[in-house]
Amino acid sequence: MKLSVFGTGYVGLVSGACFAELGHEVICVDIDEEKIEGLRNGVMPIYEDGLKEIVDRNYANGNLKFTTLPAEGVTESDIIFIAVGTPSDNEGGADLSAVEAVVESIAENINDYKIVVDKSTVPVGTGDWVEEMIEEQKEADYEFDVVSCPEFLREGTAVDDTMNPDRVVIGTESEKAAEVMDELHQDFEAPILHTDRYSAEIIKYAANAFLATKISFINEIANICERTGGNVQEVAKGIGSDHRISDKFLRAGVGFGGACFPKDTKAIVSTAAEHGYDFKIVDSTVEVNEAQKKTLVNKLRQEMSDLEDKKIAVLGLSFKPNTDDMREAPSRTVVKQLLDDGAEVKAYDPVAMEEAEKIFGDSIEYSEDAYDAIDDTEAVILVTEWDEFQNLDLDRVKELLNNSLFIDGRNCYEPEKMKEQGFTYYSVGRKA
Ligand code: UGA
Repeated sequence: MKLSVFGTGYVGLVSGACFAELGHEVICVDIDEEKIEGLRNGVMPIYEDGLKEIVDRNYANGNLKFTTLPAEGVTESDIIFIAVGTPSDNEGGADLSAVEAVVESIAENINDYKIVVDKSTVPVGTGDWVEEMIEEQKEADYEFDVVSCPEFLREGTAVDDTMNPDRVVIGTESEKAAEVMDELHQDFEAPILHTDRYSAEIIKYAANAFLATKISFINEIANICERTGGNVQEVAKGIGSDHRISDKFLRAGVGFGGACFPKDTKAIVSTAAEHGYDFKIVDSTVEVNEAQKKTLVNKLRQEMSDLEDKKIAVLGLSFKPNTDDMREAPSRTVVKQLLDDGAEVKAYDPVAMEEAEKIFGDSIEYSEDAYDAIDDTEAVILVTEWDEFQNLDLDRVKELLNNSLFIDGRNCYEPEKMKEQGFTYYSVGRKA
């Protein structure tokens, strides 16, 4: 089949590459010339396991093309995926200006029956809006259908998630479009769920909001454990072995970050409000998460009443391991709190250092590795659970730290052992 994918971010590039790998002819369109030129030369704008191999192979065999010309993407494909970004706008809703630009190109260049597929995360009702815009603006009288087919891939495992999805959601009332979409997805070993377009749009937000709520829930249980006794990891295991609950997404920590959960939780609350509904649970999920991001420095403040001029090591800056993405990363809150208290921050992340410099500039010190960050500091705060931070040489850490204070935001170590090692150790939801 002939497809085009507008937007070469995580969702667009990975989806386009994976469809090409399955034998379809795919044109990836992006207005960023540098990005497109890079892709043609094997330079990936993001790091994802296995992505470069798939892109290079399919670019070489002609299944995958890259262009900056929207007209080419529209005229030379039967199915057009919209996979551009939908960042938060000032009111917490979704900014659809990039989607609008793609829709204008489709209307301008439509040259046959097209299926326009929304893969970007867009508020319920966007499909109607897209349909109306194309209808009003189209320059030639061809038929088209607008389908919602949300994406559920995670950063870090994007190729594997795309190739092996838990389910494919196809939201459309058009039988013709549904048949084509079924055929396009026939190679995936996943159940296909057919819904109306509104439901498909809501499914994406509801899935992310539910997962985010699971995290805030377990983080609150952790906060209770800290006050009552009990171990949140045991509690998570105990409740997670009930299949109805499941043990996934029950890792207590320093709160969720990234490009999706923070944005999508706020957006669904905002959509609900626009329709006169107060979405209390998800509103609280966001509020709990904001507070959770502050708990590590609060623990530090309990031990050290004054942080002025104190050097503190921060390990892990990306919002989760195996990515350099720092969008809404909890580390940003942690660093801000420390700087506000007058502390000096020494930070290290295995891949996000460049990203961090863009954000923090010269307000913090950038270290060579974990030990360099810890050297001559009063306390270490572990924010992101990179493998290398889970296997630190604790004797060395102890030696380098001036004060044996270790605050573990991801429960990477065992409280008993840390105590034996002589650390003053704080973790999440477990009494030291
Ligand atoms: C998330 C969803 O998992 C994907 O299904 C979805 O497609 C994607 O958003 C999206 O909407 O594009 P992602 O943001 O890449 O994917 O990352 P996750 O692995 O889900 O982690 C999100 C955050 O939750 C991270 O900060 C992570 O540290 C935190 N988390 C996750 C926890 O604190 N505890 C857990 O048990 C799980």
